Amino acid sequence: MTTTGMNELEANLASLTARFRDAVSNASDARALDDVRVAFLGRSGAVTEVRKGIGKLPPPERPGAGKVINEAVQALEGELTAALARVERAALNASLEDTIDVTFPGPPANTGAIHPVRRVAIDVARYFTRHGFAVVLGPEIETDANNFDALNIPPDHPAREGLDSFYLRPDLVLRTHTSPMQVRSMRKHGPPIAIIVPGKAYRRDAIDARHLYMFHQVEGLMVGRGIHFGHLKGMLVGMLRDLFGPSADVRFRPSFFPFTEPSAEVDVKCPACAGTGVVQLRDANGSAEVQCRTCGGSGWIEIGGSGMVHPNVLRSVGYDPDAVTGWAFGCGLERIAMKRHDINDIRAFIENAPGFAEGLA
Ligand code: PHE
Repeated sequence: MTTTGMNELEANLASLTARFRDAVSNASDARALDDVRVAFLGRSGAVTEVRKGIGKLPPPERPGAGKVINEAVQALEGELTAALARVERAALNASLEDTIDVTFPGPPANTGAIHPVRRVAIDVARYFTRHGFAVVLGPEIETDANNFDALNIPPDHPAREGLDSFYLRPDLVLRTHTSPMQVRSMRKHGPPIAIIVPGKAYRRDAIDARHLYMFHQVEGLMVGRGIHFGHLKGMLVGMLRDLFGPSADVRFRPSFFPFTEPSAEVDVKCPACAGTGVVQLRDANGSAEVQCRTCGGSGWIEIGGSGMVHPNVLRSVGYDPDAVTGWAFGCGLERIAMKRHDINDIRAFIENAPGFAEGLA
């Protein structure tokens, strides 16, 4: 049924298809494929050229030829669409390969760590429980009477000023130290008594490198027959060497607290300046020696206060000062953590920088 003309048209179509496939496989992006589309399927493209052959056919064969060409065009359009999807996928993959190395190890996950202040509290508690002490906790809102009166702090003492302490009512204060727990514990137990009290304390201090308005202390108290200052010194030096290692430099400095007599301040050598009181500041203009911010230039950091429990305190809780004696101390936990980790600004503890505790763990 086919004529020479029809054969020729089909041959043209076959050669066109072969060239089309060549061109498609050489096109590496969407633009090149569009050029192929225009060259073959466009209004003045190769297919239009073949279509012109229809007019040369005998009229009865023309519809058949038209159908063959239309089917061929449909097939070519399908191939073009598939090729377009292929190059677009390839382009996407290439762009991902440029930016993402899927074999690169990810950043380590933040696992969290115990806060350095709590770590100190735990370690202090371990040391004292090993020596037979009990750990007790008390309220942060305290009566004015427990926080001051029972501790032999007279009504005209500056700590009782609203400017120095946070009062909730004239008779209720955010405890300014953990010492009121000496009073609560002795009223409840003993003598003899041996306790430590970790917890929060509050003072109206302006925040700087060494002060926060809320900080942590641990109180220690031991009362019984024949307890003397040597026991205090032995337990505190033991605690500080347990925390900092056997070569820690510890200093007892005569001091005053209304609730102890005699009293001593306990200091450790400053971590930031190694006890010299000065640090080197370096910037673009050179280097200069400036006073150490961490210790205020003294070379030592006050870890806390201590002393022999004042007879008036023993009396206020119903103990007989002629029968028993005792020692007490109160240490700042932040100060200990600073010395331990060489942190020279106390504000780091409450800034919650990501990774802060993990970095010290
Ligand atoms: N309570 C005192 C303070 O906060 C510390 C201290 C406790 C001193 C026990 C002596 C005895 O500074």
